[in-house]
Amino acid sequence: MTMNLLGMPRRRHTEFRLFGGAIVDLFYPGISQVAVEEKAAHMPRGLALLDELLDERQAAPGDDLLSRMLHAQHNGETLTRDEVRSMVALLMSTASEPVGHLINVAMVNLLRHPEAMAEVRADASLIPAAVDEAYRYDGFGKLNLPRFPLEDVELSGVRIGKGQQVFGVFASASRDERAFPDAAVFDIHRDNRKSLLFGDGPHVCLGRWLSKVVVETMIEKLVTRFPAMRLSGEPVYTQNTFFRKMVSVPVEVGR
Ligand code: HEM
Repeated sequence: MTMNLLGMPRRRHTEFRLFGGAIVDLFYPGISQVAVEEKAAHMPRGLALLDELLDERQAAPGDDLLSRMLHAQHNGETLTRDEVRSMVALLMSTASEPVGHLINVAMVNLLRHPEAMAEVRADASLIPAAVDEAYRYDGFGKLNLPRFPLEDVELSGVRIGKGQQVFGVFASASRDERAFPDAAVFDIHRDNRKSLLFGDGPHVCLGRWLSKVVVETMIEKLVTRFPAMRLSGEPVYTQNTFFRKMVSVPVEVGR
């Protein structure tokens, strides 16, 4: 999805995917030295391909986000090449994975809660609420993007020094009884307006509305196309600092 949005040519998708994966993985604290070297090896090729593409779109703009970023003007100013590169890195790191994870989480939780699944099948307008609840109840995002206090602060009795890196923990916020009474219950009718699924404040997720449309459409297709689908085992997760990544989900789709 991100590659199409940016207008990356299909023949280059595999190479850009390796580049995008490297950007994401190199961001993780605690990554091993071997992994750093393996991932960093994809960077020069990825950057060269990106620069090639930026030159092309500079000369002949298309109807894609890259062209728009290159040619956007505000008070006569345009973005520098480094600013566009850094926006691409931000989009490739934030947008490449979470949509797929949310589809998995929503589907698995509906399959685990047959009453909710029956309601959603009978009334597709409940799908957005069901997706929000699945994420709150069984979220895949562990942490928000880091924040750095501008001065020393004390929060809930903990002193945080100026410039220290701070992460919010979504799993904890999503099960906070003050925001979500009976937080341990999966309830597609609950009020999820306090959900932090897409962050909050000035840095709220840029892809929020696009992601919601994609995920909700996909869930509607899956529940209507496969009415007899059921879980035939437990999902398998990989270890990852930022995401609870579901890498496989055994299902029987039935007829
Ligand atoms: C289900 C899918 C997605 C989820 C759950 C999600 C969630 C998030 C979260 C939690 C943040 C951090 C907010 C914070 O730290 O306060 C974030 C930031 C961001 N997301 Fe998403 N995201 C999704 C998809 C996307 C997509 C598809 C795009 C782009 C097309 C995107 C672009 C961004 C960007 C650019 C930021 C950084 C915003 C900033 O720092 O100002 N995201 N997202």
